[in-house]
Amino acid sequence: MQPFTLTSERLTLDMLTDDDSELMTAHCQDPIFEHTLTIPWPYAKSDAEFFITTLVPEWWEDDDEYTWAIRETGKPELLLGVISFRVYNDTIGYWMGAPFRGKGFMKEAVAEVTRWVFSTGRAEVRWEALVGNEASAAIAKSLGFVYTGVEPSSSEYRGGTHPPSWWATLTAPGENPSDTTEFAALPWPSSTRPMR
Ligand SMILES: CC(C)(COP(=O)(O)OP(=O)(O)OC[C@H]1O[C@@H](n2cnc3c(N)ncnc32)[C@H](O)[C@@H]1OP(=O)(O)O)[C@@H](O)C(=O)NCCC(=O)NCCS
Repeated sequence: MQPFTLTSERLTLDMLTDDDSELMTAHCQDPIFEHTLTIPWPYAKSDAEFFITTLVPEWWEDDDEYTWAIRETGKPELLLGVISFRVYNDTIGYWMGAPFRGKGFMKEAVAEVTRWVFSTGRAEVRWEALVGNEASAAIAKSLGFVYTGVEPSSSEYRGGTHPPSWWATLTAPGENPSDTTEFAALPWPSSTRPMR
């Protein structure tokens, strides 16, 4: 697919460019990323450049994964975070730079990307996060994702592992959830180990 821009009330979700590599590298020094994401670690500017100029364009072209830069509308030079929809397994993934957390930007971005996914006719978007990632879970929960339990992560983490992860599903308006009967009663978990 050709990359395209999404907009919401405060945000513009558009393409990462070479100019983002410095700020992306700075955001990705956050020690929490070592544990919550599958990005290279330690994270170098060459990792950001490879991601922006090679991986992301290839994934768009192959309809493998659609990745957007998250920016405040009117501030095109400032990269806040990144959000992706992985076409191959209908999952959503995201991170927000530490200075921009807690403003509801990520919730707004996830809402917009899921709205677009549903507009394409897909019936479900799935979410996963390592057990204990309450910040990520808060977003999924508040957008109405239904918690479906703990399963190994779909992504490969350090050392080739697939650690236990919380999973949840958001169903498009008017569609029947595939898992409702079995999972609807599961309460969202809470952890004593919040990550932020
Ligand atoms: C997960 C992450 C993107 C959340 O970003 P954020 O900027 O805090 O998100 P928002 O401001 O949009 O917050 C959305 C909701 O989460 C809540 N929240 C944020 N951090 C929280 C925490 N540590 N514990 C509980 N709730 C939290 C907010 O209060 C808000 O809830 P509300 O809508 O009911 O008020 C950010 O913490 C991050 O990038 N973490 C590291 C990378 C990561 O873990 N990515 C997800 C991998 S699955």
